[in-house]
Amino acid sequence: EDIPKYVDPLVIPPVMPKADTIMQQGGPPIDYYEIEVVQFQQQILPSTGFPKTPVWSYGAVGHPETRNYPAFTIEAQVNRPTRVKWVNNLVDENGDFLPHLLPVDQTLHWANPSQDCIDGTTRTDCRGQSQETYTGPVPIVTHVHGMRVAPESDGYPEAWWLPAANNLPPGSDPSGTLFGDITTTDADPNNDNPGNLGYALFQYPNDQPSATLWYHDHALGITRLNVYAGPAGFYLLRGEEEDNLNLPGSAPKPDGNRQGPQKFFEIPIAIQDRSFNEDGSLFYPDNRAFFEGLSPDQLKIDFLPDSDVPPIWNPEFFGNTMVVNGRTWPVLQVEPRRYRFRFLNGSNSRFLILKAVTAAQPDNSTTWSNLTDEFVQIGADGGFLPQPVALDELLMAPAERADVIVDFSGFAPGEAIYLVNVGPDEPFGGGRPGVDFEPANPETTGQVMKFQVVPLTEPDPSANPDTLVLPSFEELGPSTHTRQVSLNEEESQEVCVKVQKGKVQQIGCSPEAEEFGPIAALLGTLHNGMANPLFWENTITENPALGSTEIWEIYNFTEDAHPIHLHLVQFQVLNRQPFGDDGSSDPQPWETGFKDTVIALPGEITRIKAKFDIPGLYVWHCHILEHEDNEMMRPYCVGDPAN
Ligand code: C2O
Ligand code: CU
Repeated sequence: EDIPKYVDPLVIPPVMPKADTIMQQGGPPIDYYEIEVVQFQQQILPSTGFPKTPVWSYGAVGHPETRNYPAFTIEAQVNRPTRVKWVNNLVDENGDFLPHLLPVDQTLHWANPSQDCIDGTTRTDCRGQSQETYTGPVPIVTHVHGMRVAPESDGYPEAWWLPAANNLPPGSDPSGTLFGDITTTDADPNNDNPGNLGYALFQYPNDQPSATLWYHDHALGITRLNVYAGPAGFYLLRGEEEDNLNLPGSAPKPDGNRQGPQKFFEIPIAIQDRSFNEDGSLFYPDNRAFFEGLSPDQLKIDFLPDSDVPPIWNPEFFGNTMVVNGRTWPVLQVEPRRYRFRFLNGSNSRFLILKAVTAAQPDNSTTWSNLTDEFVQIGADGGFLPQPVALDELLMAPAERADVIVDFSGFAPGEAIYLVNVGPDEPFGGGRPGVDFEPANPETTGQVMKFQVVPLTEPDPSANPDTLVLPSFEELGPSTHTRQVSLNEEESQEVCVKVQKGKVQQIGCSPEAEEFGPIAALLGTLHNGMANPLFWENTITENPALGSTEIWEIYNFTEDAHPIHLHLVQFQVLNRQPFGDDGSSDPQPWETGFKDTVIALPGEITRIKAKFDIPGLYVWHCHILEHEDNEMMRPYCVGDPAN
């Protein structure tokens, strides 16, 4: 069915309301929130007769009107802490738990709450105990992506918690285990019940530069499904350094409060690909045939009891619609003036290459001819760039952010500009659209949103971005240690494939390695130039000393690009070096600020530098969520893990 485009307006997520402001003796006030994950229906498909979609998202506790996908924006100020009670409220009106909206693969190593997965007091790997999809209560843990925060508030993937449902299956574990019980950390002095609370209290110091952060679910082995179902939102951190920049829409208010734009000239834009069933529900594949490009009845995989191929997991997910701030292909009215857009690629697997054009179809379009550089990027993941960068297109891997100024003043009311995507409808390997890969389908995922120009209401007082002087950028100091890590692909050692219909050849059950697509991509170390792939459960190998500054050399031995994300730190991208080359290339101009996610291209070493200054357990991982969920994530520990 054809979904019409540019029907509904772009929804600008409002500011998440606070529950309280907590005054502290001798310290700044703490902004306190109570935020729950809930299930509700939302009009994501066009409002012209298409059904609503059951989704999950965050909302303020006690304020059902704040339930929105994507979530309302958390506005924070530099050096003023945010405390959040994160509630898992995935229950129905009777207080019974709600099962997942999507098929949960129990053969991955995941946050499985069932009793079988608890061995005395420790959680064991429950992988492969059942090949049925899981129908129990859903574990949740929230991570603020890009935040410098203590480990107990970071949202460690095994530190999840269940809803306080009244029908939890007997013996289910209400929360994952880590450093004792993370849900009872000292942030809540009144918390004397380590049992089934259904929430955790996390606190964020916000002691880092202004930045476009975001928050999303991070439960082990199920993040791709939890985030696809909805839970994600912007977390905008604003500081003094922004006050005098005179950016569109974000001058401080007369009372000095920096929270929230003055007018909608500053707009966060989350771009995600999704697919829908006829009834409006979200589509996510429940078998591997999707990845093979076959229908399920064409390909049936017989899983041997000890098969190493996850039966449901797909190596990547690519949807056939573009959803922007929770609406398919929306339209935004813009005045002929400057806007500040905070772009987020919130997709599971899709790399975006965004361009602005003056016709809907990239095929017969002309790029903006009267402006050579449509986008002036002023910030990336971790804050402002050293200087503005004029760009014709924005390459964005999953989880990357781009803080961009777009000037519509050359357009007259009635004219329209389209945001299009020329990234691939498949894994990205680097290179140029139309040369090295086929751009996204121009009828569907090649289009993103429309800007409809309307008359100017008042003069634009914002600064010209070309001459803008951004806050001074403080480089990290010299490094004391260089660490080599690797990205690796694992092929199946034993698959058994039966073809019922279709043209696929019998692959057969073979003890030898038979290629059936990758069974997993893994992170690992490097020993004497040899890759050493490791699983989530393997002993920690990345152990930076507290306070140290390290260079990480990321060797990508796979065939695809992977967006590599480190928790805790904002790093600098140093350079990239193809294997076998003597020379290295500088980071792209938009990568010269602080980053928390970097594209590691295939066949290259990507070098980053970071300072590790809070002790404890964190993770680093690929932000292709299908990879992250199937072992492309590793714990790392700042300081001695024994302490
Ligand atoms: Cu955006 Cu570890 O995640
Ligand atoms: Cu990956």
